Formats: sequence, structure tokens, C-alpha cells
Amino acid sequence: MYAERLSLTDFRSYAQLDLELSPGATVLVGQNGVGKTNLVEALGMLSTLSSHRVSSDAPLVRFGAERALVRAAFVRGTQRSALELEINPGRANRGRINRGATIRARDLLGIARTVLFAPEDLALVKGDPSSRRRFLDELLTVLLPHLAGTRADYDRVLKQRNALLKSARAARFSRRGGPDARDASGGASVESTLEVWDTHLAQAGARLLAARVALVGRLAPHLDAAYAQLTDGSKVTRAVYRSSVEGAVPDAEEDADDAGHAPSSFGEPPAAGGSPGLAGLGVDEIAERFLAALAAARPRELERGLTLVGPHRDDLELLLGEAPAKGFASHGETWSFALALRLASYYVMLDDSAVPGDEPILILDDVFAELDATRRARLAAIVAKAEQVLVTAAVDADIPPELGGRRIRVFPGAVDDGDAARPEHGDA
Ligand SMILES: Nc1ncnc2c1ncn2[C@@H]1O[C@H](COP(=O)(O)OP(=O)(O)O)[C@@H](O)[C@H]1O
Ligand SMILES: [Mg+2]
Repeated sequence: MYAERLSLTDFRSYAQLDLELSPGATVLVGQNGVGKTNLVEALGMLSTLSSHRVSSDAPLVRFGAERALVRAAFVRGTQRSALELEINPGRANRGRINRGATIRARDLLGIARTVLFAPEDLALVKGDPSSRRRFLDELLTVLLPHLAGTRADYDRVLKQRNALLKSARAARFSRRGGPDARDASGGASVESTLEVWDTHLAQAGARLLAARVALVGRLAPHLDAAYAQLTDGSKVTRAVYRSSVEGAVPDAEEDADDAGHAPSSFGEPPAAGGSPGLAGLGVDEIAERFLAALAAARPRELERGLTLVGPHRDDLELLLGEAPAKGFASHGETWSFALALRLASYYVMLDDSAVPGDEPILILDDVFAELDATRRARLAAIVAKAEQVLVTAAVDADIPPELGGRRIRVFPGAVDDGDAARPEHGDA
């Protein structure tokens, strides 16, 4: 697919912008800070509904404005769809398809398919488990939009269950002034309410877990192939889903994640053997294991006032050769791994294409400047074949000649695509 128009109203630095786009390669060039990333961030949001840079909506709305509008027209084979996302910080975001009635934002999922590469992707390899969970869930909701509902159910139940654990913990501490104080009747009602939440949590959680595990299975072969394409192919990559439901993620690691610090197990080799994982299990079997894990964790959960097992505490372990990529990979290897993860998601989407013209749009934000000449050339050769690829760069020299395509100059709040009818080729 390709985007043929992008319109922004009060999005980031743009009061109003209308940009015509075409299939093939387009390079957005301009000095740092002029608003290149803002443009591709907006387009990416129509696919994932979230920004690759910030987790809250407020910075996405032009300073001083109340809401932002992102609109784009996509061409998919013979089909055209116009998507509109209204960003309302502090309130629910809304969507519209083909200028129809207002719908929930999440009902836009699954129509626009983009794969965005950005310097932030280094966190996929080096960062907390939360970045890797986000990577999996974003890809899942593009492939299987109904999972956004499952995800929302899970998050809601988790929040309520955590609130209950927290208040039970507070009650235990305040009652007779010590953690050992007991109140049989109060305890019993907490336990029975917890059981209800456990069932809901395990049902939604198991659906999410089954989908994540299946996705990792689909990504794995592409990941290794993509890594080999980007490098000289001398190292093997592996991605292993580690679930807290299987006891595979130590509490300490996730606690560091919750607090926003680097996990304490940084640089430790993977546990030898490990659990066979959840691969091959059905949703019901996973739900059973989830419930068993919750039962086992109950005393610790009451003590901590926190849900300690579930997809919100899992990780996607990335291995390069025998060692974990995190902590062991060099800077160049980390980049290649991060790019390979994004390329793998592109290939999974390609496998998934039902109709011709279904290819996802590739977006490369400031990526070439970060790579050495070999990796640049290799990446350019791969992405140049895509139906549409949008690239941002501060200077033309960062763009490998293999890419060619059309150049658009970006200035603060505006773009100059005056020579749209005369595409330039290469950097000759
Ligand atoms: N919500 C906002 N309102 C107004 N300006 C913003 C907002 N968010 C970011 N900007 C501005 O956008 C610019 C950065 O744009 P960006 O797309 O990241 O630049 P680059 O061209 O380097 O990729 C900065 O000047 C920043 O101040
Ligand atoms: Mg930028």
C-alpha cells in the first residue's frame, strides 16, 4: 500500500500541512529540528495509534492548541481509504474512516500498515522488557485488530486487580500496626474478590499470550534472515518469548522495569535449559497455567500489592550467537539487531498480505546517518524494493545512492515539494 496524501492540523510543530505523496522512495530532507520526524510520526500513528517517541498524547498536539488531527489517504491495490485520527489529550482519541461517522480510535487499526525504523529502536535491544512487549503488541494489533480489545480488557482487569492487592496490603499494614496482623473475615473477602479478577485476568491474558507466542514463532525465521542480510551473516539471532507465567522472568528484573531503571540482570547469560515455554499450547491450557502461576504468586502479590505474573511482566529475550544481545552486542550489532526486528515485522506483514498492493509502507526516520557505509547500502538495497518508503535525513549525503527517489525539503512548519513532478534520481 502507499499513502497518497498526509494532512496535519495542529499536530506537533504544524498548524496546517498538506503533503502529496507518491509510491516509491521519498526522502524528506531538512536541518535538525525542522519537523521531519513529526511528519513520519504522524503517518506511523495511523497504523499503530501510538507515537514511536512519546507515550502520552499531550506533546503531539501543537503547543497551545486543544487537539490535533492527522489525516491520510491510503491506496491498497484498487482500494482507497481515508483515515482520520483526532488526538485529544486527556480524553479518548477518535477516528473516522472515509469521512464517515466518528468511531473509537482503535477501530482504525488494521487498515494502514506501516513499519517505522527509528533511532529509538535501539531500546528494543538495549532497553527494558516493556519496549519489546510494546513491539510485539503493536505488530499484533496491526495484524489482528481485535486483539486491541483483548489488550484493553487485560489492562483494565490488571488495574483493578492491582488496586485490590494494594488496598489489601495497606489494610494489613494499618490493622493493628503490623504486617503480621490478620483479619479472617477481611482476608476472605479479598481472596474471593481476587479469584474473580484472576479468572478475568487469565482469560484475557491467555489470549494475548497465545497471540504473542505465535507471533514470535512467525518472526523468528525472518529475524535471522534479516540479520544475515544486514551483516556478513556470521552470527545467528534468536528471539525467545520468556513468560512470567512460566516463571521465566525473575521478579527483580521486572521491578527494575516498573521503576524505570535498567534491569538488574543486565548482562547475565540466559538460564540454561529454561522452560519449554508456551509454544504449542492452546488458549485454555495457557489460561490454566496462568491461574496456577497466580495461585503460586498469591502470598508474594499480597505482600507487594502488585500483580507479579502475566503478559505485562514478560520479555522477549534476544540472543546473538550464544549470548543475550542486551549487554553483549556491540553498538553496530545492536543496530543491526534492531533493524532486523523491524525488517522481520515487515516480512511477517508481507506473508500476511491477502491482496496485491497490501505491502506495508516503510518509514526510516534518521536511520541512515547512524549506520556505517556497508550497513547503509545493505539496508537501502532491501527497502528500495518496497512499494513506498519514506526516509528522513538531515543532509542528502546521508542517503545512499541506491535509494534515489523524490526529495522533499522540510522547513519549520512547511514543506517544499515544488519539484514533485520532476523526481530526482540518486545523488548524482
Ligand atoms: N507539540 C508541539 N508543539 C509545537 N512544536 C513542537 C511540538 N512538538 C515538537 N515541536 C517542535 O518540533 C520540532 C522538532 O521536530 P522534529 O520532527 O523532531 O525535527 P527533525 O526535523 O529533527 O526530525 C522542534 O522544534 C519542536 O520544538
Ligand atoms: Mg528527527
